[in-house]
Amino acid sequence: MTKIGVLISGSGSNLQSIIAAVKSGRIDGEIAVVISNDPAAYGLTRAAESGIATRVVKHGDYARRSDFDDELVRVLRESDVELVVLAGFMRVVGQGLLKAFPDRVINIHPAILPAFPGTDGQAQAFNYGVKLAGCTVHFVDEKVDHGPIIIQAAVPVLDSDTQDDLKARILKCEHKILPHAIALYCAGKLRLVGRRVVIAGPDEALWAKSALFSCPGLD
Ligand code: GRF
Repeated sequence: MTKIGVLISGSGSNLQSIIAAVKSGRIDGEIAVVISNDPAAYGLTRAAESGIATRVVKHGDYARRSDFDDELVRVLRESDVELVVLAGFMRVVGQGLLKAFPDRVINIHPAILPAFPGTDGQAQAFNYGVKLAGCTVHFVDEKVDHGPIIIQAAVPVLDSDTQDDLKARILKCEHKILPHAIALYCAGKLRLVGRRVVIAGPDEALWAKSALFSCPGLD
């Protein structure tokens, strides 16, 4: 069973979607530890309420980013983590973590990459005036929001939308595709071919059919 480490910085609603998918058996894995760089992150409460070990590693406690990275690696290894999931983690992870977990760090970004990388992808898309927005789960590489794409989903932007309406619609979609990507990883169904992530078996057909215009299973 895959041991998963989840890194958070805030509310942890994406973490909650992973917890639910593990509990329901959709993810054949176990969340071994939840790490936050912010001690006030509500996601820590969510984890504790589900009996999951939590750790706080405050980036401000480390003079060098590499030291922060090294401590994240130490804590993750202490819990025998195989897959590292960045779920609303607001710090850029460095070479230390990527070398320790090669092709085993994934991130959820609230935009259809490569469009609108960086912070507040939802607002960037909204202000640009796109008609389709969405979210991306990708492997993390040495550049920000640049690694091979695992899953994407699109949602419409309505003329009546506020930025918050769009953020909420995208977030609901994030809660679908992040657990789905983790489930595929844990089932050994993801294969990297250069920059392409090939999804083995029937999931690919199912996924291709349902990903456009509404997140799969989005109620
Ligand atoms: C999500 O929109 C995520 O895409 C972005 O920050 C938000 C985190 O939300 N990076 P939560 O902490 O998972 O509720």
